[in-house]
Amino acid sequence: MFAKITGTGSYLPEKILTNDELAQLVDTSDEWIMQRVGIKQRHLAGENETTTFMAHQAALKAFEAADIKPKEVDLIIVATGTADYLMPSTASILQQTLKIPNCPAFDIGAACSGFVHAVDVAKQYIENNSAKNVLVVASERMSRTLNWRDRSTCVLFGDGAGAVILSASDTPGIISSALYTNGEGLDILNIKTPLAKKLYDTHTQDAFLTMEGNKVFKQAVSSLSQLVTDLLKNAKLTPKDIDWLVPHQANYRILDAIAKKLNMPLSKVVITLKDHGNTSAASIPLALDYAIKNNMIKEGQTILTEAFGAGLVWGGFIAVI
Ligand code: UT7
Repeated sequence: MFAKITGTGSYLPEKILTNDELAQLVDTSDEWIMQRVGIKQRHLAGENETTTFMAHQAALKAFEAADIKPKEVDLIIVATGTADYLMPSTASILQQTLKIPNCPAFDIGAACSGFVHAVDVAKQYIENNSAKNVLVVASERMSRTLNWRDRSTCVLFGDGAGAVILSASDTPGIISSALYTNGEGLDILNIKTPLAKKLYDTHTQDAFLTMEGNKVFKQAVSSLSQLVTDLLKNAKLTPKDIDWLVPHQANYRILDAIAKKLNMPLSKVVITLKDHGNTSAASIPLALDYAIKNNMIKEGQTILTEAFGAGLVWGGFIAVI
């Protein structure tokens, strides 16, 4: 039995913030952001566009694409680092808003790698015959975690949600998956909860995202290069067998390095970074939905996904669509 992606959906907030608008808030420029990162604009959630709301909208689209009803889902997994509540989980709230009958529902916290972690867990449930249809959603409201006076972080991120339905299938779906953690990365990328802020910090008031970007960058390139080698080896494939790279959208230079490692032209890499910014866990399902809906990724093609984020945590999967 294989776990196969049978439908995708996404949601992006209406409001868009361009680099030029950002340059009026902090000392930055469109030129710096495009050259060093590759972002032109990002979507920002309004007051009512909560993490749960965006997850709900993306899930509805995924149900439509997979042609199944919410009541047919027997597991819900939400990947988020920006949940509306510390408890209950976003997945619990989503079960109620989508009117999905009693089934396991939980969140996964693996920062930017949350989606690939959620897919890996869903795959295990399906392969063990414990679930037939799994709703996996990644939803992030990064804008609420940003210090809008810190140009080294506030220009990088955006808000949005992506969802997939994974269903039991006789034909190959997720054919290789790998996850890794190096827990020594706490200081170079984190967002403290208000509670942690009280316990560990006395000098600032708010719980903002902080990152030492160039340290994260170096770790990301070396870890992801090894990851793609492992994924291909597990699947007994070579780079030539991969039709599309669907990477986490953090930095154009990271995407480029991984594409080079795979010997892939950039025309085979799904790049939404320019328009979405870094939407953390949501970036891969947003890119996947974009590429499927725009007829880039076609049925029967093989994709490779990879993500890297706070933890440090990284992972990815190879799937036949
Ligand atoms: O998704 C989770 C994982 N996250 C990532 O993978 C992010 C990985 N890191 C990166 O993508 C890059 O490190 C950044 C885009 C965050 C930063 O790029 P960088 O080339 O590593 O720049 P830097 O931090 O080394 O800073 C270079 C210069 C500094 O100025 P000086 O000291 O050379 O005078 C910064 O102050 O660029 C300056 N700078 C900016 N200038 C204009 C930093 N941010 C900005 C900005 N606008 N927004």
